[in-house]
Formats: sequence, structure tokens, C-alpha cells
Amino acid sequence: MVKALYEGRLAVDIAGLKMQTPVTTGSGTFGFGLEFRDFLDLEKVGAVTVKGTSLLPAAGNKGQRAIETPSGMLNCIGLENPGSEYFLEHTLPELRKYDVPVIVNIYGHSPEEYGEVAKKLDVDGVDAVEINISCPNVKEGGIVFGTCPEAAAEVVRAVKANTSKMVITKLSPNVTDIVTMAKAVEEAGTDAISMINTLLGTVIDIDRQKPVLGNITGGLSGPAVRPVAVRLVYQVAQAVNVPIIGMGGIMNARDAIEFMLAGASAVSVGTVNFIQPDIAETIAHGMLEYLDKHNVQSINDIVGLALPNGRASMPYLNK
Ligand SMILES: Cc1cc2nc3c(=O)[nH]c(=O)nc-3n(C[C@H](O)[C@H](O)[C@H](O)COP(=O)(O)O)c2cc1C
Repeated sequence: MVKALYEGRLAVDIAGLKMQTPVTTGSGTFGFGLEFRDFLDLEKVGAVTVKGTSLLPAAGNKGQRAIETPSGMLNCIGLENPGSEYFLEHTLPELRKYDVPVIVNIYGHSPEEYGEVAKKLDVDGVDAVEINISCPNVKEGGIVFGTCPEAAAEVVRAVKANTSKMVITKLSPNVTDIVTMAKAVEEAGTDAISMINTLLGTVIDIDRQKPVLGNITGGLSGPAVRPVAVRLVYQVAQAVNVPIIGMGGIMNARDAIEFMLAGASAVSVGTVNFIQPDIAETIAHGMLEYLDKHNVQSINDIVGLALPNGRASMPYLNK
């Protein structure tokens, strides 16, 4: 039982996952949480979302893996991680010493593999599973699950069949129609949606006359992507019956509130952790100031206010 913070004014319930603030951490930008414990009070983070975890350890990509871009960064870490066994043996017990919900971000290379990771992580101490569908389906010629509604749905079904945990599906923005993707994963049984993952990009070194990143393409994140992310949340919030965790370029409380007004019930902070490692805690204070300024009691009351018909636009709030 997580203890109450801020008189409950920032408490949110995301499909049964109770968070004391609406702020979680972007997978891959907050390590496994433990790396940040000297910078902030982990118990004042709404939930810790850990680095993408796979069944077996993964080495990630070769060559240069990140570069700063205008108002953001491009990365191709390649989902390096020590694997689910290591996570369960070494990381989770340490993380569990803190009174904070733990969301484990998972990935695989086939629907079956996603199911296997979900099953392995269906243990006490894991509060929710977030599915990263922005990965290639090795069996189907490498097409990314998150760009094909049927493939994404198959992954969600495989995970749901193998876990008792609340399941969040993380959408990719690299699609023509995000609403189709959102509806496909909702139909497949996801309990919540998180969005957005990074946007694909390339940077070329004009003197070497070659792409900078070893992988050629990388994922763009940071404030440069924020208007794209807010637009996508705004669209999906009007189409689905499940809560949304919004992310993409959040730098401060102001930005976080923008996502909530667009229909997100919670938010996630990513790239900003690299320059302000206490941000997940700091944003909560800014949110309280905003509530006071606008004479609102609970953060839940601002969700969806900027939609065309305000909160009436959101099927999730009106189900
Ligand atoms: C270095 C880095 C590593 C990331 N690793 C993962 C990952 O393992 N799994 C995942 O679902 N998303 C991953 N992401 C995406 C972020 O969680 C987040 O969705 C994205 O960066 C947009 O938010 P931001 O602009 O606040 O960073 C990563 C992003 C960065 C910058």
C-alpha cells in the first residue's frame, strides 16, 4: 500500500494502478530507478517505469548510439538490458525496498516471446507491465509490431494471456493512423495506453558523409516532439475507452498539464531526466500550484478539458 501524498490531490488510478502522483518515468530514460535514488525521493514518483526488459540479456546496437538534436536527442541504444532473470534476482528486490509502484516495460521478437517475458515477470512486486510494440517481428520479415494493427493486437493478446498484471500498451507515433492502432490494442484487451514512443530520424555527419548513428536511424525524443505527441494524445483520447499515459518532450509541470488537458490521465517524463534527474518529483509541486491557481481540488478534474467538447469528448471518462 503506497502512502498518501499531497493530501491525495494528485492521486490517480490508471486501470487499477494507484499512483500518488500522475508522473511516471519514460522507459529507458530512468534506468531501473535505482540509478536515480541519489537525485530524488523515489517514493515521490507516481510509478517507476523501468528500462525495456527482454527474456534474455541483450547487447544493444554497435557504434554511436545517441546524438543531441535541436530541442531533443536521437538514440539507437537498441534495447540493451541484462534480461528478465537478472531483473528478478537483482533489481526488483532492491526496487521493492521503496514504497512506489513498479511498471516493467517489456519487449520481444515474436508474440510468443512477449508472452514468455510477461509470464516470467508475473510475480509479486511488479505492479504493471508496459508493452513496447516498437520492435521488429522477426518471424514476419522484421515489420514493426507497432505499425500493424493485427500484429500489435496479437502481441497484446499474448501478454494478456500470460499475466495477471495491469497491461499498458505503448504506441508508436510512426504510423499513418494512430487511432486505428489505439483501437486495435484496446480491442485486444489492453488496460491502458501509453504514448508516444520515439519518432524515427537520421542525422548525417557532413564531413564523414555518413550517418552519425551506428544503426543509421534512431528515435527522436525531447521537446521537439511534444506538439506531435500532444496532437496524438488529443486524437486517441476521443476514440478509446481506456486511460492514457501521455509522454513526449515533457520538460516541466506546464508541459505535463498540457498532456492532461489533451486527455492523458497520467504522464511520463523521459529525455528530461538526463538534464534534470529530480524532475519526476519536481513536476508534482508545479501541478499543485496549477491546481491552486485554477481553484481545482483534484488533478483528475483537468483531464480532457481542452478537447472539442471538453470531458464529454472522452469515451473513457464517460463509460
Ligand atoms: C535513451 C532512450 C532509451 C529509451 N528506451 C526505451 C525502452 O527501452 N522502451 C520503450 O518503450 N521506450 C524507450 N524510450 C522511449 C521513451 O520512454 C519515451 O517514450 C520517448 O523518449 C518520448 O518521451 P520524451 O520525449 O519525454 O523522452 C527510450 C528513449 C530514450 C531517449
